[in-house]
Amino acid sequence: MNEVLKVENLSHVYSPGTPFEKTAVRDVTFCAHKGEIIGLIGHTGSGKSTLIQHFNGLLKPTSGRVLINGEDIHQSREMTRGARFAVGLVFQYPEYQLFEETVRRDVAFGPHNMGLEQAEIDRRVEEAVRIVGLPPEVLESSPFELSGGQKRRVALAGVFAMEPEVLVLDEPMAGLDPVGREEVFRFIVAYQKKHGTTVIFVTHSMEDAARMAQRIVVMEKSRILMEGTPCEVFARAQELTRAGLDVPQVTRVLMRLRELGVDVPTDAYTVEQAVRLLQQKKEGRAC
Ligand SMILES: Nc1ncnc2c1ncn2[C@@H]1O[C@H](COP(=O)(O)OP(=O)(O)OP(=O)(O)O)[C@@H](O)[C@H]1O
Ligand SMILES: [Mg+2]
Repeated sequence: MNEVLKVENLSHVYSPGTPFEKTAVRDVTFCAHKGEIIGLIGHTGSGKSTLIQHFNGLLKPTSGRVLINGEDIHQSREMTRGARFAVGLVFQYPEYQLFEETVRRDVAFGPHNMGLEQAEIDRRVEEAVRIVGLPPEVLESSPFELSGGQKRRVALAGVFAMEPEVLVLDEPMAGLDPVGREEVFRFIVAYQKKHGTTVIFVTHSMEDAARMAQRIVVMEKSRILMEGTPCEVFARAQELTRAGLDVPQVTRVLMRLRELGVDVPTDAYTVEQAVRLLQQKKEGRAC
């Protein structure tokens, strides 16, 4: 498979040589393939946000390298600039970064900086706003007139409009109510399906990681503790618990039932999957 983004032996030390020195990422090696959806999960302070800010060159590794399509993003100014466009980074609470007078100008900010022609900018802006479910009239309003959930959508649209090869999102659903979370989840999936983009998202929720990601990467204390498919990762429940994390609720229930001697499958991590597997079992089919 095509490796779009690769991180080799990356370490990041904040404020080196001062009393505040802090190694936030330690010797991390990681790669993302074309079109893959990866969930990055870990306890607070484990280094997730620090790691992802290296993907588009916003932070520079203290040691190690970041490669996009095989090329070191710090090998030249052009490469570093290219990384900003190839990797779209959506910060936590991105709505705080809206600043333009109209939604149209805000969403167009990235594409405009990329030097695209006006017609192409307009096309992208209109498509991105449609994908996040906002009516076209919103384009001419001020982002500050919108609700919190709508502002989040505008911020997402601004990164979608750059059509990055890799979309990196830091807790995209944080602070939203269940309906808002579901919507943001659907927009990201819809965008990913349309463009075949590689998506890396940070989350604290095992449930969100399980239902959205094909691969889960778990960080603990500045390092990668484990990675694998949701099934592979959740099978290591004890290690996850030690890292201050937990398997999804439904998986926990199935594991407990198995401990109590009930013959149930334990490799389900969403309620829908559990229902399907249990029904198959009841009908006598293999899981
Ligand atoms: N600008 C900074 N200067 C100094 N230390 C920092 C800075 N940013 C983060 N840190 C420290 O680096 C470590 C990793 O922080 P980081 O924000 O990457 O973790 P995180 O996994 O994203 O946490 P959270 O889940 O709370 O968002 C923490 O100990 C944090 O206090
Ligand atoms: Mg963080």
